Amino acid sequence: MAMAGSAIGLGNIWRFPYMVGQGGGSAFIIVYLLSTLLISLPIFLSEAAIGRKTHKSTFGAMQRLAPGTPWRWLGLLTVISPLIILSYYSVVGGWSVEFLLKSLTFSFSSGDEAQIMGFFGSFISSPWGPLACHTAFLGICTLIVVAGVKKGIEKFSTWTMPVLFLLVVFLMVYALTLPGSKAGVDYLLKPDFSKLTASAVASAMGQSFFSLSLGVGTILTYASYVHEKENLLTTGLGTAGFDLLFALIAGFAVMPAVFAAGIEPAAGPGLVFETLPYIFAKMGASTPWLSGVVSILFFLTILVAAVSSAISMLEVGVAYLVEEKNFSRTKAVCVLFAGCWLLGALCSLSFGPLANVKILGETLFSFCDKLTSNFLMAFGGLLFTLFAGWRMKKADVRGELRAGKAFGLLYFLIRYIAPAAIIVIFLTNLFL
Ligand code: PFF
Repeated sequence: MAMAGSAIGLGNIWRFPYMVGQGGGSAFIIVYLLSTLLISLPIFLSEAAIGRKTHKSTFGAMQRLAPGTPWRWLGLLTVISPLIILSYYSVVGGWSVEFLLKSLTFSFSSGDEAQIMGFFGSFISSPWGPLACHTAFLGICTLIVVAGVKKGIEKFSTWTMPVLFLLVVFLMVYALTLPGSKAGVDYLLKPDFSKLTASAVASAMGQSFFSLSLGVGTILTYASYVHEKENLLTTGLGTAGFDLLFALIAGFAVMPAVFAAGIEPAAGPGLVFETLPYIFAKMGASTPWLSGVVSILFFLTILVAAVSSAISMLEVGVAYLVEEKNFSRTKAVCVLFAGCWLLGALCSLSFGPLANVKILGETLFSFCDKLTSNFLMAFGGLLFTLFAGWRMKKADVRGELRAGKAFGLLYFLIRYIAPAAIIVIFLTNLFL
């Protein structure tokens, strides 16, 4: 459940539905499925095998399996990259806190539709509100992680994942009953192979491993807590299956509503924080209470999904400080809270007062996002597969995966196919 929680996040709700529509509907879904099976699953299994074999987080695992070698840099890199992701992810998590609070006062259910749609732009460019919400979001994650792996992370995920699932199914059923929603279903399902360009294929692969939280040590760290009797292959298939199912259901909750309202689908923040409030405002004109309830449930879904992902990023750093630097759990969480808060605050301000501060032509928020999702995750994923495929003993990988007759195929994917495919995605992202 915790691994599913890490996987299911903002990526499923605001990126996947749009990418599917843009990338050729079910044609894109087929490519996404293939990349999940051929590339993401091998990376997942590589990370999981390393984590469970050593029962250590990223740095310690490298030290144990390849002591005194440059592999320790992979250990360090994958402590830092999830913390960079956490910093800007928390800014977006903060926006969902604000939007949930606004829904609770039924603010989207009455009032001028255009004004409601414009609220997002004025909110994120103001300095204080987003900073306060970023602090609140990171604070929630901190409280969960400080409570421990079992009593905090595991408990939170075991309780919220089933609820999250019910919420999103309810939203889907509701969206599919709206008049005009069929166009949204067609948008998601109609196969259009002409839209399946090289960059759409690279996006499908990239989305598949962003969505499964790969290449940044979260799966490795969670796997280090997994009991010997658990089967990692089943865990991997379960996580990937649950993640995809959630993304599809979220897609069928969001896109039919967008088309029913007669607007163009957007990607990213625009979809969740502009288009949907507009839809709630439209609904509110005839049925304010229903629009109010649906908007509360929707932003609650986003918030819970974001928290369950964010805690997995924080845990990687905490595990490192506790295992390698002998910090107490509380001290580790506080130190990381301070660091991520600061970087996140700068990212948050990059929508307003710091909008002109650019790194390689990007604002700080967008730089951190691109650096991690286009490069660091792919790089980490590549190194983990190379490590499991070429550096770890084959018998150890076999012993961890316990995949029976399928091991030969999985090992081939880990050694050759996944690394080659990641290099292709990497180059495509670099040059397209
Ligand atoms: N899988 C998360 C999502 O789809 O939103 C994002 C994510 C979580 C990325 C954890 C990286 C990570 F370590």
